[in-house]
Amino acid sequence: MAPLPKDFSGSVLDIGCGTGIWCMDMGDAYPSATIRGVDLSPTQSDWVPPNVFFEIDDVEEEWTYSKPFDYVHSKIMAGSIRDWPKFVGQCFENLREGGWVEFADWDYTPFLPDGTPDTRNNAVVTWHKLMMDTVLEKAGATAKPGPDIKQWVLDAGFVDVKEVVFRVPIGGWAKDPKLKETGRYYGLSLEEGVEGISLAIFTRLARMSYQQAMLECSTFRQAMKEIRFYHKL
Ligand SMILES: C[S@@+](CC[C@H](N)C(=O)[O-])C[C@H]1O[C@@H](n2cnc3c(N)ncnc32)[C@H](O)[C@@H]1O
Repeated sequence: MAPLPKDFSGSVLDIGCGTGIWCMDMGDAYPSATIRGVDLSPTQSDWVPPNVFFEIDDVEEEWTYSKPFDYVHSKIMAGSIRDWPKFVGQCFENLREGGWVEFADWDYTPFLPDGTPDTRNNAVVTWHKLMMDTVLEKAGATAKPGPDIKQWVLDAGFVDVKEVVFRVPIGGWAKDPKLKETGRYYGLSLEEGVEGISLAIFTRLARMSYQQAMLECSTFRQAMKEIRFYHKL
């Protein structure tokens, strides 16, 4: 969403780039720009546009880049970052004057269609509570940075700050056609990804047995088809 010019040719940092797909799309869209993706894990492809490269790095450590970036992008670091004000401050210090930073991140609270958080006794709420409480208590990282990012960004010294909040439904229950389609994709990604998201947290941090963790996942998977809820991005 950052208002980059069509012929943008600056240097870009993608934080926690994961598979590197955003970097590759960015490299294709802006052939004169240079895209550096960093992640803890080497899961990126070797088949990348020539203006894209990847590095293994821990962004919670001190940043040692020799030159500032023109655009810093960070998507879905919820549950990964312990000290967000420090992290946002590092982005500020490593950005060229006039550059842009963009954070796209979650509030993983399960919200009901009427806009209130779901606090009922059901498997959707149980799974979220287990995930969010465990990550916060055992790893010290919030799973809902979204609502605080604007303030952290302002505190770091950024100006021209714009916040856009999206409702992202889980499943195809929304009436609006675009939200319905989004919800179908997001619901599928959550359904297929629930074990990947939960297992390490449940077994290593919450000390559940593998069987118990799998049961939590399957109970949640069933409940997410029955209960209408959304996350905020
Ligand atoms: C949920 S994934 C998001 C991936 C990608 N940004 C996307 O939107 O598809 C979070 C990524 O952040 C990486 N990560 C977590 N903590 C990190 C850290 N301290 N430094 C660098 N990468 C980190 C993880 O390895 C993972 O690939």
